[in-house]
Amino acid sequence: MGVTIVTGGSSGIGQATALEIAARGEGVILTYNGNAQGARDTVATIEARGGTAVPLRLDLGDATRFPAFAAQVEETLAAVWQADTFTALVNNAGMGGGSRFVDTTEEQFDTLVRVLFRGTFFLTQRLLPLLADGGAIVNVASASVTTIERGGGYAAYAANKGAIVTLTQYLAVELAERRIRVNAIAPGSTRTLIADNAFGKYAHLVPEIEKKTLLGRLGEPDDIAAVIAMLLSSDGRWITGQVIEASGGYQFGI
Ligand SMILES: NC(=O)c1ccc[n+]([C@@H]2O[C@H](COP(=O)([O-])OP(=O)(O)OC[C@H]3O[C@@H](n4cnc5c(N)ncnc54)[C@H](OP(=O)(O)O)[C@@H]3O)[C@@H](O)[C@H]2O)c1
Repeated sequence: MGVTIVTGGSSGIGQATALEIAARGEGVILTYNGNAQGARDTVATIEARGGTAVPLRLDLGDATRFPAFAAQVEETLAAVWQADTFTALVNNAGMGGGSRFVDTTEEQFDTLVRVLFRGTFFLTQRLLPLLADGGAIVNVASASVTTIERGGGYAAYAANKGAIVTLTQYLAVELAERRIRVNAIAPGSTRTLIADNAFGKYAHLVPEIEKKTLLGRLGEPDDIAAVIAMLLSSDGRWITGQVIEASGGYQFGI
């Protein structure tokens, strides 16, 4: 049995991914930042279905803590799975960040860079010695990169997710010698707690998104989790260095 690390497993896409991977018989280490209860809920659901999952706290915006986090991962692998490596990493933790270019403050910009790009970059670097040869990484980017939002409003957020796509491609090249596959997924609008529960708070805007989506609805976290799990599994064994948009066909053909 392999072990997958899913960052941001306390809600939304990360939670659904942790559940999906556990359902496929893998062990899961999932991280949370502020929402400890969400992480406990994820673990409880996995355990109730006969799986094994361990929650660890991680602030992706604080790289000084990454060495201690890697040490905790190493201890957890040994104690729970009698393993010295894990087999897959899902870099999912992150936040939304809609704002028009002229309104974006340096503080908003710096937070997005620190968490979405810098955090993902250096966490992956720190965990790499513990990732087994032949393993896989999926980075969660965004459809705001693969399909430019015609209404604008995502310059800083999307540029950081674009950086994640470029990082994915260079990692795929450099890790190929260890047969580690690296891919990115670009989710379209997905019903999660993102941006302070924006989809719940501004439910009146959802029909507009649905109208722009070929398949006519908002994405659900398990729509994205299924693709991530496929990319990590042997079904994805011939896919590396790719970015896969999973959006139900958002703004398709426009
Ligand atoms: N939902 C969408 O429409 C959509 C579309 C494209 C891409 N995405 C991307 O999908 C990923 C998951 O988001 P989601 O939609 O599932 O939102 P979500 O429900 O808000 O989940 C976000 C997760 O990331 C964690 N997180 C946030 N900031 C963190 C930090 N500084 N350090 C560590 N963990 C942090 C949260 O942990 P706590 O809650 O425990 O703090 C939570 O587990 C993000 O990278 C997001 O940019 C989402």
